[in-house]
Amino acid sequence: MNMIICKDANAVGKTTAQEIAQLITGQGKCVLGLATGSTPIPCYNELVRMHKDEGLDFSHVTTFNLDEYLGLKPTHEQSYRYFMNQHLFDGINIELCNTFVPDGVGGDPRQCAGVYEDQIRALGPIHLQILGIGNNGHIGFNEPGSSLASRTRVVTLTEQTIRDNSRFFSSMEEVPKFALTMGIGTILEAERVILLATGAGKADAVAAAIEGPLTASCPASALQLHRNPIFIIDEQAASKLERKEYYIHAQDAMASLISS
Ligand code: GLP
Repeated sequence: MNMIICKDANAVGKTTAQEIAQLITGQGKCVLGLATGSTPIPCYNELVRMHKDEGLDFSHVTTFNLDEYLGLKPTHEQSYRYFMNQHLFDGINIELCNTFVPDGVGGDPRQCAGVYEDQIRALGPIHLQILGIGNNGHIGFNEPGSSLASRTRVVTLTEQTIRDNSRFFSSMEEVPKFALTMGIGTILEAERVILLATGAGKADAVAAAIEGPLTASCPASALQLHRNPIFIIDEQAASKLERKEYYIHAQDAMASLISS
């Protein structure tokens, strides 16, 4: 698996933004899969900067977000639609009608999940999917125990996820107990996948995803099955990888092979 170990969270953001910029300038229609959480924020800040300072063009880009809380309106400050508008879409020249986030208030949630999966199939494939990782190894809101072939669906959040995400709400009780998420099977169909992780708190989850067994108990380990996964992580998140020295060596060796 391809690994890019960066100095810190900012470098992770910049490196990821460069990957995205390269992709969207290199082709016509482009479909990106996007993630929320604090980890991708430096990447989104850099994309907004590249748009403003360098004219990076998003007019031909379509986006699909991984997930959304059930029951939060798009105007709710903790909804993932609000997050995306605030951190990325309002700062770039993307058409809002080309940005898709699962609909957490659209009536029957199971039907909304099916509609989302159909939209991905109709407008996809997703050329590049950005992922974060939960402390428990979740990707999107695919909690431990999710089927590795799962599709977009309604999920019940674990106590740990509710606790982890309660830092964004005024109390634990306010955190929604359910969400809509792309499935692991949906994510694996993206042409490329980049998983971002920063900080020591993610070190165990990262080690389990990359070096642990392929298991539904660590949903991110499903990326071991993907044909083209890249892990862009900082030194702290990489600190529990047993083969860290090899990954750094391989990263340097590949860079010099490509430049020679
Ligand atoms: C939420 C999101 C995930 C994200 C995770 C990690 O649970 N559903 O997609 O990866 O948070 O968030 P953070 O980057 O803030 O650690």
